[in-house]
Amino acid sequence: MSDDPTFKPGLEGVVAAETELSSVDGQKGELIIAGFPLEELAANARFEEVCYLLWHGELPDQPTLKTFRTTMASYRELPAATFSLLAEAAKHGASPMDALRMATGTFDLDVAGESDMVKAKAITARVPPAIATYWRLLNDREVIPPRHDLSRSSNYLYMLTGEVPGPETVRGLETYLNTVSDHGLNASTFAARVIIATESDMVSAVTGAIGALKGPLHGGAPGPALDMVFEIGSADRAETFIREKLDRGERLMGFGHRVYKVRDPRADVLARAAERMYRAEGDMALYELAKHVEATAIRLLDECKPGRNLRTNVEFYTALLLHGIGLDTPIFTPTFAMGRVAGWIGHCFEQQRNGRLIRPESAYIGQKGRQWVPIEQR
Ligand code: ACO
Repeated sequence: MSDDPTFKPGLEGVVAAETELSSVDGQKGELIIAGFPLEELAANARFEEVCYLLWHGELPDQPTLKTFRTTMASYRELPAATFSLLAEAAKHGASPMDALRMATGTFDLDVAGESDMVKAKAITARVPPAIATYWRLLNDREVIPPRHDLSRSSNYLYMLTGEVPGPETVRGLETYLNTVSDHGLNASTFAARVIIATESDMVSAVTGAIGALKGPLHGGAPGPALDMVFEIGSADRAETFIREKLDRGERLMGFGHRVYKVRDPRADVLARAAERMYRAEGDMALYELAKHVEATAIRLLDECKPGRNLRTNVEFYTALLLHGIGLDTPIFTPTFAMGRVAGWIGHCFEQQRNGRLIRPESAYIGQKGRQWVPIEQR
């Protein structure tokens, strides 16, 4: 490894941006979004309000919110090219995250000459219809056109199922989307800022961010986290199952965090939202099993990785909440993108206003002084 004392392989502790969008305190377990404690914003705000807040720095008043929502809703139709691309991707069985990444590249086709704010609205409005359209295409179900009279979240669930969801379900989804709307300089947000800092465009920045979010070390964990709970199946199997996993050197999805060394505050907000949802449905079995798995996992992580403070992260209760809302596991990570896109775009605006080309350095550890050998002599 390089002996350069400034070398930080994962950039931990390196401050590469100033932001007014969110503050993450990993020691206190505190998340502030544009000045509001997460706990206050998540359960009360509509997602479009959070979007407005992240892009304009203030909460909208009623008429402003109405106009903002109506304008956003007017972009719900996908460009014809987006639809064709999704249909082609479905023929190849692409994963929903890959399909979303491909589709996002086409979201500004019909607004190419417009301002970045128009593009921001079109991109944000089109993420949910693209996921829902693709999920139905992939499952050989008839595609449901968007409705403009529903909220963004409600329309997403409507386009997935054909049924207008109840207020409890919509509230659960909005709480989730608000919770994950922004989170400091996480990997996908950093990717978006790096791209926009070259004076590239919004669609490129969001497409790159989606690529970064896909990996299991970032946004790809909730599916595997839920799979683990299902595989465990009953509380008495948790200890053996988790211990064997850790003995094989595997990571437990939904636990550990680069910044939080205490419980991720988003896990608490989502655990409460999930509990409300499961209680309303009258079936608490899965929720209670998940609580038991969580407690066992933390105890065994403390035992196997002493001093690491590996605690529950946002993904564990994301999985439980999204499952309770009725979403299928393969669209958990795309649904994460549906919330985080507000933050990515907020960071793009901020980077455009204040930023500088992001261009760190690398420490060269390769050979030196090699001599060129012509190909026929190798
Ligand atoms: N299960 C088991 N061991 C773990 C876990 C885990 N979930 N997380 C970290 N560790 C161990 C590592 O193996 C390592 O052990 P070692 O020092 O004995 O080799 C030690 O803890 C430190 O791990 P690092 O990789 O240095 O921690 P890092 O800060 O890079 O990791 C990460 C953070 C990637 C989130 C990690 O905790 C992880 O892989 N978690 C599981 C995947 C997950 O839940 N991802 C979602 C994160 S939340 C989000 O991005 C939205």
